[in-house]
Amino acid sequence: MKSVLPADLAEAVTRLRAAGCVFAEEEATVLAEAAADAAALAGSVRRRAAGEPLEQVVGYADFCGVRVRLGPGVFVPRLRSELLVRLAATHAGPGTVVVDLCCGSGALGLAVRHREPGVELYATDSDPVAVACARDNLGTGVHQGNLFAALPNGLRGRIGVLLANVPYVATRHIPFLPAEARLHEPHTALDGGEDGLDVFRAVVAEAAGWLAPAGVLLSEITGEQIKPATATVRAAGLHAAIHTDDDLEATVVTATRATG
Ligand SMILES: C[S@@+](CC[C@H](N)C(=O)[O-])C[C@H]1O[C@@H](n2cnc3c(N)ncnc32)[C@H](O)[C@@H]1O
Repeated sequence: MKSVLPADLAEAVTRLRAAGCVFAEEEATVLAEAAADAAALAGSVRRRAAGEPLEQVVGYADFCGVRVRLGPGVFVPRLRSELLVRLAATHAGPGTVVVDLCCGSGALGLAVRHREPGVELYATDSDPVAVACARDNLGTGVHQGNLFAALPNGLRGRIGVLLANVPYVATRHIPFLPAEARLHEPHTALDGGEDGLDVFRAVVAEAAGWLAPAGVLLSEITGEQIKPATATVRAAGLHAAIHTDDDLEATVVTATRATG
């Protein structure tokens, strides 16, 4: 909190509280720690009070033991996605090819590599803003394009862990999302079509051709989506399993080659 005085901090708390921030003290402290001086803090408080996610304002999110760089317009990694990371890490070891499809900031791949540093990591996203952010976080191996089309062809049949935290909100639910998501994250990062599973179905349709024999696809879904998601996986000739974590309120569907 370099040149931020207690009075600046108190002013920040007052402004955030007036804007309806429930955790005004905590957020003011985080903003102050990231601000170079009082003027920068005032600017950050203005952005936060206008509804921008805290993580986009300070430029990072702490997720699963790693600090992920973030910027405006990039999906903020969710706490519940820790379940994806935990499950992915159990399938990853030295040399495992891990792909973070629809990577956003690259948070999931970064967290898995933090747990298993020997993995060979690739990440893709269709959004150039997300790709730039993921490159910032992951370095090389980040590609831009539509789903698998962005991946090097040589990865076909070699992917051990295929993380696909795709957009999975049903279109009719988008208006009910918190304003932070609705107004400050791209709709392409959220909207999964009529039942939320459009992108998931597209991933599953191609997954078998990219997974290694014992490879696994992991996707976050909602409780409502369990039935259609498992049916989608089975229809593609893959084995489906559901994993939940009540504390995180997280549900993950995994798909493996039936013979794997
Ligand atoms: C829910 S966000 C998840 C981001 C990241 N995996 C995470 O968990 O923080 C979904 C991401 O998928 C990307 N996306 C949406 N449709 C895509 C497509 N057809 N091909 C590649 N990426 C896509 C969006 O740009 C967004 O970054």
